[in-house]
Amino acid sequence: MTKIVEVCRDFGDLLNPSEFLSTERKSSGWKCHTKLFGAADEAERLRTATAIVTQAHYEINDAVLDKAPNLKMVANYGVGYDHIDVPACTRRGVWVSNTPDVLTESTADTALLLLLASCRKLAYGHKYVATGQWRSIGASDEDKQLLGNSPEGKTLCLIGFGRIGQALARKCQGAFGMRVVFYDTFAFSAAQCKALRAEQLPLDEALRQADFVSVHANLTPQTTGLIGAREFALLKPTAYFVNAARGPIVDEGALTAALRQRRIAGAGLDVFEVEPLPLTSELLALPNVTLLPHLGSATVETRRAMAVLAMENVADFAQGRVPRTVVI
Ligand SMILES: NC(=O)c1ccc[n+]([C@@H]2O[C@H](COP(=O)([O-])OP(=O)(O)OC[C@H]3O[C@@H](n4cnc5c(N)ncnc54)[C@H](O)[C@@H]3O)[C@@H](O)[C@H]2O)c1
Repeated sequence: MTKIVEVCRDFGDLLNPSEFLSTERKSSGWKCHTKLFGAADEAERLRTATAIVTQAHYEINDAVLDKAPNLKMVANYGVGYDHIDVPACTRRGVWVSNTPDVLTESTADTALLLLLASCRKLAYGHKYVATGQWRSIGASDEDKQLLGNSPEGKTLCLIGFGRIGQALARKCQGAFGMRVVFYDTFAFSAAQCKALRAEQLPLDEALRQADFVSVHANLTPQTTGLIGAREFALLKPTAYFVNAARGPIVDEGALTAALRQRRIAGAGLDVFEVEPLPLTSELLALPNVTLLPHLGSATVETRRAMAVLAMENVADFAQGRVPRTVVI
């Protein structure tokens, strides 16, 4: 009998999932459909699905699983799987996989981009030119908002020091000789810290020492609201704040207030509590913030590698093997 893989999106030129399964992986008898969620026949497609390829924002929870009695596999197109109820899947014998490693460098690049954009006033400078405020040579010197800060030799604080946090540390150490401190619930050994040239600190102390903070923890009940008004109050008024992990790790109201009141110097954000960012958000009007539409891993090369890995996991399952990057 034909097995159906329901893919939440269309990979376009990146990958043809049907072709991948039938030719590359020789999993004949498997068929792929794209653009699952929101489709007119979503309920019927869930009913017949053996595997679902999902991504951030497309939740897999008990309500979805109830509608998918034949489901055996959920392959996430992304590393963060906070939108998947893994215990609920496990209870029902449904495998869950994700796409770690292949997106690490691109996501760390996005954090670096936001770090530089915030300390060198990229968004403000762009708007200054685009709205015709740059009218004479030297006039821009009068606008103090255009004067940034250099990252060289400054202290970078990473909240979450896993794959992406460590990749950003390497980039900042290599390019700018930055000192790295981090907060992580996993206890790193002295030898690991030495090898990574990074110092593990309690959260408050790491924040107090930081010139730049970048968030790279995964979203869990423990990290939801981890950085709020109390934490922003610990930062230097010259500190810059970056989040390219998940919006709800940060209390966005507290961040907005800290930016508005200049209790921190600026921020660069790729993720938000609510996505897409509502047009009513005060963040849109602030001069000291750079905003991106959740494109941490968004390069052709990385997205192709993620699509391949997500489908490799489905192919592993189709061939009777444990998916290669299974989540447990
Ligand atoms: N913006 C994007 O498009 C984008 C792209 C990729 C990943 N991400 C996000 O980045 C996250 C990190 O990815 P990764 O591959 O580095 O994951 P990872 O698992 O390698 O690293 C996460 C780190 O956070 C730490 N952590 C967990 N709970 C913590 C807590 N309560 N306090 C402090 N640290 C804690 C873990 O110990 C781990 O070291 C993903 O979960 C995802 O949400 C976002």
